[in-house]
Amino acid sequence: MNQYTFQDYYQNTVELSFTDLPYSKEPKHVWVICQFKGQWLLTEHPRRGIEFPGGKVEKGETADDAAVREVYEETGATVDVLTYLGQYRVKGKGGTIIKNIYFATIEKMKVKAHYFETNGPLMMKQLPSSFKENKYSFMMKDQVLQRSLEYLSTLTDND
Ligand code: GTP
Repeated sequence: MNQYTFQDYYQNTVELSFTDLPYSKEPKHVWVICQFKGQWLLTEHPRRGIEFPGGKVEKGETADDAAVREVYEETGATVDVLTYLGQYRVKGKGGTIIKNIYFATIEKMKVKAHYFETNGPLMMKQLPSSFKENKYSFMMKDQVLQRSLEYLSTLTDND
């Protein structure tokens, strides 16, 4: 099955699909599951906590551009290969957001004095079995991450 509907951490309804841009051809948000030298690369958001990097698509850029930019701003990492995985739509009280999900391998990391909106990079050899702890961002707590990792493993198994 390639399509899922569930509630997020805030009880908003999320629709998730691993097909080609199912909810919008021009999504305004991106989220990037990153790997560097066999480790997961995340970032620490000062309010939300530990999460994979991501953010909003700016005027004049594509969602793919935004993914590469956000990874660099939030972690100092340069994307090597960016792979589109899927898209999700969250219907919240304040409106609907649509986000592309990517997988990125990282070419190199630069240590920066300041990281845009975050406390910088965080590497993990293994992801925890649960993201319930407070230190993890709400974005890591719904089915999006788990389903994306499952989908990603089907891509890499077929290589
Ligand atoms: P800033 O302008 O970055 O301060 O953001 P904002 O809080 O207005 O956020 P944004 O437009 O990014 O998102 C609006 C709302 O959408 C959030 O408060 C969340 O409820 C929801 N949202 C955003 N990103 C995600 C996500 O990745 N997963 C889920 N489940 N909800 C999200």
